[in-house]
Amino acid sequence: MKVIDIFNPKGGNGKSMVAINLAAASVELGKKAMVVCQDPQGTSILYGKGGNMPFSVVSDIPKSKPDVDVIIFDHPANVWDIPEGNLLVMPFKPPRDQYATFIDAYKKAEAAGKNIVTIVTDTNQHRRDEVELTKAMKKKGAFVLPSSGVYGRAASEYRTIFDPALNKAYKISERRREFLQLATHVLIEVK
Ligand SMILES: Nc1ncnc2c1ncn2[C@@H]1O[C@H](COP(=O)(O)OP(=O)(O)OP(=O)(O)O)[C@@H](O)[C@H]1O
Ligand SMILES: [Mg+2]
Repeated sequence: MKVIDIFNPKGGNGKSMVAINLAAASVELGKKAMVVCQDPQGTSILYGKGGNMPFSVVSDIPKSKPDVDVIIFDHPANVWDIPEGNLLVMPFKPPRDQYATFIDAYKKAEAAGKNIVTIVTDTNQHRRDEVELTKAMKKKGAFVLPSSGVYGRAASEYRTIFDPALNKAYKISERRREFLQLATHVLIEVK
């Protein structure tokens, strides 16, 4: 069973969005997935209540080992403890004030010897500094999830982007392809 921690102590940087859609992409790749929502705000738990998920979303760590291939922890904001698992997925948004917190957390995770997959999400294409930072991070191996209204729409309907109800959404196939690439990397390529 693969354990993945979605981590970034800065709030609103795409952790829950990545947790839910990474679980959905894992299911698309034929894996059984589970999301553990560690956030008292319960963003990902709300998705589970929407009833549109092809995986379970729980709020407590299961007592016995669950029958799944991948377990994804959606961590809360403002908690700096480095997660226990070896594999961290760290999403962040490129505005400068967001980036500083991300880098601090990244360095701590790196010092703790974690395997880290970085995701740049929601880059504002009209801001040169954000575009430049995104390019530089991509060069260093980061995944890039472009800014897209699909994520807000999916969230408001408690759906993943793989939900057939979103089949006609703008550029949905690109968004799905990005998540499938991310899932393939995280589930298969990274140990
Ligand atoms: N690439 C993107 N394009 C558009 N919106 C995005 C993108 N990535 C994330 N978002 C939006 O950013 C908002 C914050 O995302 P999310 O709730 O996943 O962050 P979070 O890190 O879990 O926040 P918290 O720390 O409060 O738990 C959401 O509305 C989400 O839809
Ligand atoms: Mg969240």
